[in-house]
Amino acid sequence: MRLFIAVNFGRETVEKIMAVQERLRMFGTGNFSRPENLHLTLAFLGEVAPRRAADVKMAMDLTGGGKAALIFDRAGNFRRDGGDIWFIGLRENAVLEKLHRSLTANLAASGFPSEERRLTPHITIARQVILHTACDGGKLLGTPFSAQADAMSLMLSERINGRLIYTQLHRRILEPEKKA
Ligand code: 2AM
Repeated sequence: MRLFIAVNFGRETVEKIMAVQERLRMFGTGNFSRPENLHLTLAFLGEVAPRRAADVKMAMDLTGGGKAALIFDRAGNFRRDGGDIWFIGLRENAVLEKLHRSLTANLAASGFPSEERRLTPHITIARQVILHTACDGGKLLGTPFSAQADAMSLMLSERINGRLIYTQLHRRILEPEKKA
C-alpha cells in the first residue's frame, strides 16, 4: 500500500486554497487537485507492506508536539518535464520543522528510513501544468493567509478508475509545544 503522512485542512482553509487554484486555471491547463485531496505532506513512505502499517501508526503516536500556526505566503512551481507542479508554500515554521524531524526519527527507528531531503512544506494545487500566459506566483497567491495544523494523518493513496483517492487510516492530534 502506498502511504504518506500529511496535515489535512478544514473547509475554510480548503476554500482559500481553491481560490488560488481557480486563479491558476486562468493561466493554463493541468491536472488540478480536487479539494478533498489538498494536504501538506510531512513524510512520504511510498510502498509499505500492509502488516507494517501498525508500526507507522505507532511512530506517529510517539511523536509529540507539532500543533503549529501555519502561514501560506507564496505560490510557485516545481519544473517538471510534461508540465510543472504548482503549489502554495509556507513561511518557515520552526514547530513544523521540529515535528517533521521528530516524526522522521521515529519512523526511522521503526525501520522506515526517509530521505535526508530538507522539508519543503507545500500544498500541491495542480500537476502537469502548461501555462499559456506567464503567471507570477506572488500575485497568484494574493494576501497571505494562515491555518492551524491540528493533526497529522496517515493517508492511503490509491488510483481507482484513473482517479487519485486518498483515505485516512489514522489520525494523531498534535499538541501545543511545551514551554521550556
Ligand atoms: P507532491 O504533491 O509534491 O507530488 C502523496 O503522493 C504525497 O506525497 C504528495 O504530497 C506528494 O508530493 C508526496 N510525494 C510523492 N512522492 C514523493 C517523494 N518521492 N518524496 C517526497 N514526497 C513525495
